[in-house]
Amino acid sequence: MQARLYPSTVYLSAPGMIRLVQRKGLSACIAGVADRIEREFLRWNDFDKTARVASHSDVGVIELMPIADAEQFAFKYVNGHPANHLHGLPTVMAFGVLADVRTGAPRFLSELTLTTAIRTAAMSALAARELARPGSRSMALIGNGAQGEFQALAFRDLLGIRELRLFDTDLAASAKLAANLGGQGFQLRICASTAEAVRGADIVTTATADKTNATILTPDMVVPGMHINALGGDCPGKTELHRGVLERAAVFVEFEPQSRIEGEIQQMPADFAVTEFWEVLAGRRPGRVDASEVTVFDSVGFALEDFAALAFMRETAEALGLGEILDLMPETADPKNLFGVLRIASGSEAARDVMMAALH
Ligand SMILES: NC(=O)c1ccc[n+]([C@@H]2O[C@H](COP(=O)([O-])OP(=O)(O)OC[C@H]3O[C@@H](n4cnc5c(N)ncnc54)[C@H](O)[C@@H]3O)[C@@H](O)[C@H]2O)c1
Repeated sequence: MQARLYPSTVYLSAPGMIRLVQRKGLSACIAGVADRIEREFLRWNDFDKTARVASHSDVGVIELMPIADAEQFAFKYVNGHPANHLHGLPTVMAFGVLADVRTGAPRFLSELTLTTAIRTAAMSALAARELARPGSRSMALIGNGAQGEFQALAFRDLLGIRELRLFDTDLAASAKLAANLGGQGFQLRICASTAEAVRGADIVTTATADKTNATILTPDMVVPGMHINALGGDCPGKTELHRGVLERAAVFVEFEPQSRIEGEIQQMPADFAVTEFWEVLAGRRPGRVDASEVTVFDSVGFALEDFAALAFMRETAEALGLGEILDLMPETADPKNLFGVLRIASGSEAARDVMMAALH
């Protein structure tokens, strides 16, 4: 093999990521990503943060999520198309890159569809660990699509959730979730409505996909002490909670400038009080103040979670010997002579043409 001139870019494909998660174990991946997110959130001020860049259409959104510290830059490409199942495609698909800040060289390119489910579940459970009532054991899971199993397992592992009540407008999605989670330590019940699922639940996770201002959860369903993990409302015009739920809760967000645009709080006035979750982790602001408070984690997904997940997956891939070298950059010994790579390539093409002509 020819010696590399530039730092290598490691590529972790979707099959590579599946192997990584199978070999490391899903629970270990969720726990590892949660640890990494916590670590990165605790050095919040080291990061150059921006709200993500979104390109909207009638049926969905395509977003770029950049972030950097002094050493590494990351971005994620992600879409959200709730009707994609009609085309046989997932609602959410993603990939992303880690690059060296010092040179700009891309070092790790990875699938992030599976990783997004893992990091979202890790983030949700991390937030609930600080915000839900201690001793919470039951969770209602509204919206039983691609994110569902990952959410359930993260809440089992990080919070000890054992009782799950499921509701989805598509009964087949609930049946799929119940089948996938069978034998994994849950007591499972498929419910006939959101109201039935949330009755008596300590935690409610909403993970529905619909490009509308939905009211999955209304104030009459909310009881004192409940924690609401709302992750399906994540772009303008796409929400899940009735504003009355927000009015009676302490609301926590990831990165406030982005959440004002995309979160449940897009329904609220600009001065509606929220707390950025990193401040709770850092002990600068209180999380839940008493057992009767209603808490909402108004999750939209923030680039720092993907930065953390990319870093975890890169290290894990290296430790397990997974991933392949990707020829992403045209390499040249004289970096100013980019044109030279074409001359070499066209030289060999010319040689091939001569050879082909000789054969005919
Ligand atoms: N906050 C984050 O970080 C984050 C990360 C990933 C995905 N998301 C969002 O989470 C949501 C779920 O993602 P997914 O990949 O599981 O999508 P999915 O399409 O696989 O599943 C969504 C499920 O919601 C159900 N649903 C739609 N309307 C409903 C309603 N009114 N009541 C009950 N169920 C309903 C659908 O039938 C479907 O089964 C999406 O909106 C996605 O954009 C957020």
